[in-house]
Amino acid sequence: MMWESILTEWASLILRWLHVVAAVGWIGSSFYFIHLDLSLQPRRDLPEGVYGEAWQVHGGGFYRIMKYLVAPASMPDELTWFKWEAYTTWLSGFALMVVVYYLDAELFLVDKSILNLTPLQAGMFSLGSLIIAWLLYEGACRSGLARHELPFAIGGYVFLVGLTYAFTHVLSGRGAFNQIGAIIGTIMVANVFATIIPNQKKIVAALLAGQKPDPELGLAGKQRSVHNNYLTLPVIVLMISNHYPLLFATRYNWVIVAIVLALGPIIRHFFNERHKGHKSPWWVWGAAAAGMIAIMLLSAAGPRNATTGALSTAPTFANVQDIVLSRCSMCHGAEPVWESIVTAPKGILLDTPEHIRRNARLIGRNAAWSTAMPPGNVTEMTTQERTLIAAWLAADGL
Ligand code: HEC
Repeated sequence: MMWESILTEWASLILRWLHVVAAVGWIGSSFYFIHLDLSLQPRRDLPEGVYGEAWQVHGGGFYRIMKYLVAPASMPDELTWFKWEAYTTWLSGFALMVVVYYLDAELFLVDKSILNLTPLQAGMFSLGSLIIAWLLYEGACRSGLARHELPFAIGGYVFLVGLTYAFTHVLSGRGAFNQIGAIIGTIMVANVFATIIPNQKKIVAALLAGQKPDPELGLAGKQRSVHNNYLTLPVIVLMISNHYPLLFATRYNWVIVAIVLALGPIIRHFFNERHKGHKSPWWVWGAAAAGMIAIMLLSAAGPRNATTGALSTAPTFANVQDIVLSRCSMCHGAEPVWESIVTAPKGILLDTPEHIRRNARLIGRNAAWSTAMPPGNVTEMTTQERTLIAAWLAADGL
């Protein structure tokens, strides 16, 4: 048991490291190309077939980049392709999801107080919904629906919010946030793998054969890359949300995701407009601030089934200590007795009065104002117990 736990811990570190580095490389190059594409300037003395050029300065040198819309007069043998950043991001991300969420499904994917699933059922649900959601998106794009940009964007938004609502009523809050992030990430990588790169290959082949490539190929690739551009910021929030119990384990968690899914694209819009040299849409930051304030207020609503005013007497520290010792200390103790836990998670000890007082604020964020802990509610903490701790914190805990 100890070795299994240590192995998965380091597998998770290596995969996370790779995942973050690959994602930085991918997002970095895609932001760079979006900026480049939007900032190209047509000029008179450019070579035949060049649409525009950009001058850039970086690392002590000057770059003059030109974009050919059609075949250059001669095509070099070596072309640099940008695809492995995306593929590596997905492969490492999926492996990480297996290690964290599927191998420890009981703690992180299932929440018995939401739906009493077995780890296997939860894993199948997660994998199945990932595949089905991607197929629906792919089908909608291939059927031509995506050509109507605004209705497609609104439809896609409603689809993702609907999925989020459903996931938050099947999986744990944390599992649901990861699931919606994994679906968006999968759609983005599949766009690169199944549309953008194959279409580019066909275009190159046609040009080498001296034929005119089908313009549909380029248009479809462009469309998917616009989708990816707008999905980038929300997916990052979802991926780091597991550090923020007030986001994923409070009553309106799905509304919070709905706001994030709207804020990400409008913030991208601000930068897209600037890169084009248009007037900057400063209103975006007003909307972003309003959205963040709304998220803050929503996250203060407490756990989903919270009861208010249920306490007849003011809670004492002894009450709090009883609850924490019975619901938390089997994992957060010097020698945890919970099966898959070897040392106190994140070094947080909740086994003595002093430790409990010192961690009062963390207890509040994870178990009183949210239901992030105990993970999956494995020790069956009740809503009354959370309310009691919240009341104690409000009275003198901080
Ligand atoms: C089944 C074992 C288990 C029980 C019971 C449990 N925890 Fe945890 N706790 C964990 C694990 C595992 C993590 C690490 C989560 C992660 O990897 O993100 C954790 C992390 C935490 C953290 C750190 C969160 C952070 O910011 O990184 C706090 C605080 C916490 N638990 C508080 C509690 C409280 C309060 C209770 C009781 C109400 C409790 N835990 C019950 C397993 C448990």
